[in-house]
Amino acid sequence: MNLVIALDGPAASGKGTLARRLAEAFDLAYLDTGSLYRAVAARVLVDGADPQDEAVAATAAEALDPADLQRPDLRSQAVGAAASQVAAQPRVRQALLDFQRRFAARPPDGLSGAVLDGRDIGTVVCPDADVKIYVVASPEVRAERRHRELIARGEPSIYPQVLAEIQERDARDSARAAAPLKPADDAVQLDTSELDIEAAFQAAKRIVAETL
Ligand code: C5P
Repeated sequence: MNLVIALDGPAASGKGTLARRLAEAFDLAYLDTGSLYRAVAARVLVDGADPQDEAVAATAAEALDPADLQRPDLRSQAVGAAASQVAAQPRVRQALLDFQRRFAARPPDGLSGAVLDGRDIGTVVCPDADVKIYVVASPEVRAERRHRELIARGEPSIYPQVLAEIQERDARDSARAAAPLKPADDAVQLDTSELDIEAAFQAAKRIVAETL
């Protein structure tokens, strides 16, 4: 059997860490689908093009090189903001859909399933996923986490600015017409506002155990 776990949620909700740990715990492959959109955005920015230009962004998505997923600049705020701009474009989403579905259906290394995290995994990419978790946390908690992460990486960060960027990204990801950020009807919600990473992981593991 091929087990698919979908984790969706807004920026800095902690879904990436949870997804990675669930993949380890259940011996599954892991795909950070945000890195696909980030890689497309990084390519557009490096070429000096406009992330809002759908033809340019779609060409970058169609030509996506899996090696681009390892680019060191993918986690920057600028790339994150541009990622949410390219992600609003239907042609970009379409170009990345097959890659994600193939990964879920046939995970690499002969593993018996996959964990995917993103915004539309439970609703669009893998609507038949065995487990769907929608991870949330208040914008203030998420901004605080992202702020600390940036400082730890030695990048300049100003908390009110990080909070404003998170709110802007939430609004764009939720309001877009193409595969907006929203919980699937059958997703279990996990609020990590008051949980440290270990407690959040234990809660996610319980959800998986209870759903299967
Ligand atoms: O999760 P992360 O912050 O890396 O994602 C970057 C951007 O990519 C998000 O703001 C969102 O606009 C987009 N994205 C998406 N669908 C996904 C994953 C990410 O639209 N499945």
